[in-house]
Amino acid sequence: MSANIDIRPITPNVGAEISGIDLGQVTSGQAEALRVALAERKAIVFRDQDITTIQFAQFMQIFGETVKEDLVAEEGNPPEVGAIHIRPEERQRINFWHMDHSFREYPSKVLALHAHMLPPCGGDTLFASLEAAYDGLSDEMKTRIEGLHTLHKVTQTQNSKRRYTREVIDAMDEAPTVRHPLVGLNPDNGRKFLFVNIPIYCRSIEEMQNEEGDALLAKLYRHVQRPEFHFRLIWRPNTLIVWENVHCLHYPVADYFPHERKLWRVVIKPTTRPVLA
Ligand SMILES: [Fe+2]
Repeated sequence: MSANIDIRPITPNVGAEISGIDLGQVTSGQAEALRVALAERKAIVFRDQDITTIQFAQFMQIFGETVKEDLVAEEGNPPEVGAIHIRPEERQRINFWHMDHSFREYPSKVLALHAHMLPPCGGDTLFASLEAAYDGLSDEMKTRIEGLHTLHKVTQTQNSKRRYTREVIDAMDEAPTVRHPLVGLNPDNGRKFLFVNIPIYCRSIEEMQNEEGDALLAKLYRHVQRPEFHFRLIWRPNTLIVWENVHCLHYPVADYFPHERKLWRVVIKPTTRPVLA
């Protein structure tokens, strides 16, 4: 128990379910306990949070500055609350392990989702800890990847057309690559994390020839997906999750066609870029 809230780990490596708190009225003591829990567990889950989108945006300010969403905000929602909306006639196509925005110099550190409309079952989201994934590497692999850098680049996805104009999408091919460390150091807890992403974003290893680098990245990307490093969030109405995007990969499961699903999303402005371990 901390600040009168109950924090229950979901798996040994990642995730916590937190109860005994109303996110519409968080005390400063509770806010501090939530920041600590997020840093330790990488993802924190709350159930039965019947709060408005305005309250959602306000709550998220305990983790930093909220930014205006690049997802289209719906009428009546504050600009920092975006909608991830899969309509009944639509099929969700983002169903792969990934991190959002790794192609930016400052990838979003903290993201949150609040369930607004759910299919009868399915549509779960999985979250994997990149810190646990690093710890789970062999000593030999840790030595092999020390000091390496990866090159990331933006690419079109299902959400692109909701965010960007045709001109912006066309310009993506010309976008510069962004260089990140392959092994990052989390300054908040001193832990190293394996900073990989799906190959459509994480294109190559700077210090290696393509073939060698691609094979190594593929191996590391597969490694992160081991069940030991992840948990599966089964959404319920009014479930809310906050996670460290830059220290996790997530996988939205696309198994609920032809049902509808709508989640609200809030992004916290990153203040640091990943640093080499
Ligand atoms: Fe995502």
